[in-house]
Amino acid sequence: MENILEVKHLKKYFPIKGGFFGGVTGSVKAVDDVSFSIKKGTTMGLVGESGCGKSTTGRTILRLIEKTEGDIIFNGQDINKLDKKQLRELRTKMQIIFQDPYSSLSPRLPIGEIIGEAVKEHGLVPASEYDQYISNIMKECGLQEYHKDRYPHEFSGGQRQRICIARALALKPEFVVCDEPVSALDVSIQAQIINLLKQLQEDRGLTYLFISHDLSVVEHISDTIGVMYLGNLVETGNTEDIFANPLHPYTKALFSAIPMPDPEIKKDRILLQGDIPSPANPPKGCKFHTRCSQCMAKCKEVAPTPKDMGNGHVVCCHLYDEN
Ligand SMILES: Nc1ncnc2c1ncn2[C@@H]1O[C@H](COP(=O)(O)OP(=O)(O)OP(=O)(O)O)[C@@H](O)[C@H]1O
Ligand code: SF4
Ligand SMILES: [Mg+2]
Repeated sequence: MENILEVKHLKKYFPIKGGFFGGVTGSVKAVDDVSFSIKKGTTMGLVGESGCGKSTTGRTILRLIEKTEGDIIFNGQDINKLDKKQLRELRTKMQIIFQDPYSSLSPRLPIGEIIGEAVKEHGLVPASEYDQYISNIMKECGLQEYHKDRYPHEFSGGQRQRICIARALALKPEFVVCDEPVSALDVSIQAQIINLLKQLQEDRGLTYLFISHDLSVVEHISDTIGVMYLGNLVETGNTEDIFANPLHPYTKALFSAIPMPDPEIKKDRILLQGDIPSPANPPKGCKFHTRCSQCMAKCKEVAPTPKDMGNGHVVCCHLYDEN
């Protein structure tokens, strides 16, 4: 299987403006040297605490915000070297679905138009086939054709997310960033939306970057997982390997907090000490050292580099250094 996406040493720093003259006084290192790849037709889950840089990673890949540094290779092409026309095409091939479907749906447009707006703009289907095309997409996403003339406020949260999925899908994307797409929904509805995303992936060979703080959702939908902490990927690998054998102390702590379905199985919950440090002023060395129970002297000085522990299970932690 080929990689549809390769992210190399991606950085996104947001300038902090302040001071008397309103100059730049520092930067928020939201994404700080992140590299990973995703194979075509698979899902990579991106997990980590609030503020660790998950959404910024997704948005920078889609060029919704400009990167500070690094390369993004999509279908073998460096997306920063595309001309205007190529970039326009790329805009349809990469889509995003957000957590809050309501705020991304224009309240004044009936949903048929919301779903079709960009299809028309990009001239993706001939005018004679347009109506049928939109009807088909709606059906595929579990919406009724007669809903076309209704407005977003007339739908439930789950239906609104279906509208957003239909709008993204109508552009025939290859890659979709799903940024907490079910986090705002009732648990019973979450499963329906997850199953819809899985079905669409199977039917259309889609590739997902699935961002979530809910590890059980991520385990269910992801083929591979990336764990983020303060702008860094600290561990990546196949979903089974990461769940069966988490290596990084942060991953271990994060996973120890998942409730077990079987109360007979006792798990020792690892509590993280202290707060997440500011991404504007991250700790030196290993950024996790201020909260790590296994911190050693060198952790405070030297940042660990990625090590492949086999089967593509990569960890960034000095505990796995060879001596
Ligand atoms: N436009 C922006 N300007 C300045 N700082 C920003 C901007 N967007 C994000 N940040 C900062 O970058 C860091 C990463 O934010 P991001 O939204 O990527 O985190 P996240 O992992 O998606 O968190 P959450 O789980 O809460 O959605 C945070 O410290 C955030 O405050
Ligand atoms: S490098 Fe050191 S501080 Fe960082 S996670 Fe590993 S043991 Fe903990
Ligand atoms: Mg986010």
